[in-house]
Amino acid sequence: MEQAIQETAKRLREAKRVTVLTGAGVSKESGVPTFRDALEGLWSQYNPEDLATPQAFQRNPKLVWDWYAMRREMAGKVSPNAGHYALTELQKLKPDTVIVTQNVDDLHERAGNQDVIHLHGQIARVRCYDNCQGSPTIVDLATVDAMQTPPPCPHCGAYLRPDVVWFSESLPMDALARAYELCKISDVILVIGTSGIVSPASELPQVGLKHGATIIEINPQYSMITRIAHTHLEAPSGQVLPLLIEALHAE
Ligand code: OAD
Repeated sequence: MEQAIQETAKRLREAKRVTVLTGAGVSKESGVPTFRDALEGLWSQYNPEDLATPQAFQRNPKLVWDWYAMRREMAGKVSPNAGHYALTELQKLKPDTVIVTQNVDDLHERAGNQDVIHLHGQIARVRCYDNCQGSPTIVDLATVDAMQTPPPCPHCGAYLRPDVVWFSESLPMDALARAYELCKISDVILVIGTSGIVSPASELPQVGLKHGATIIEINPQYSMITRIAHTHLEAPSGQVLPLLIEALHAE
């Protein structure tokens, strides 16, 4: 592992542009559950078809609203971990580094990460289901009647919904387009804590690879990314990322 960390630090040092793609694993050490871990993963306890699709919301808006409200509250209580803070250090050393995340929490931002692209939305935000004032019509949660679940949009009365991407929905176009462009021009793509199962985010490392990027994966398990990764640092990101920063500082 020590040698792989030194080699990765060298690649990072030499890189002109670095893009970081994160998934649920980077927040795990903060206490946020992943989706697909066998025991504690959200999708091993809940059925995504009941909770994370537009049809689920149409069938039972209160159930879906309450589930996201519970996750929003949980995400607000946890703190960034050593992995998130190490990414802030990486951005100080490599200021062009952009974080592309599938996570809906704001732990990257709270750790001081700059330029974070959210591919799957942000759980702290809510918007009008009909996007009545344009896409997205974000509404300040503090101004709505929390007793109503879901609360109505103050502009049009339609339901409010979490500003997250549900299964079968498109990702925010500008976020996805920028992520693709960044992967095309990156020398190193650091893929951290994702199973690499959910498309189109899972295609981003492949796009980088095609354009000559070195793919470095940080994940204690094998994933769909592992087979295309040049290096797999097989350990939790909260442990590996600080070691990587230490190695970068050392030279
Ligand atoms: P998954 O739950 O599919 O995968 C989490 C990955 O994190 C797994 O490969 C774990 O091995 C790894 N992992 C666990 N602990 C880790 C740690 N301490 N350090 C580093 N890695 C660790 O989560 P995602 O790949 O993020 O979509 O899932 C992608 C999307 O599927 C999510 O954004 C969500 C979900 O349905 C939406 O909500 C739209």
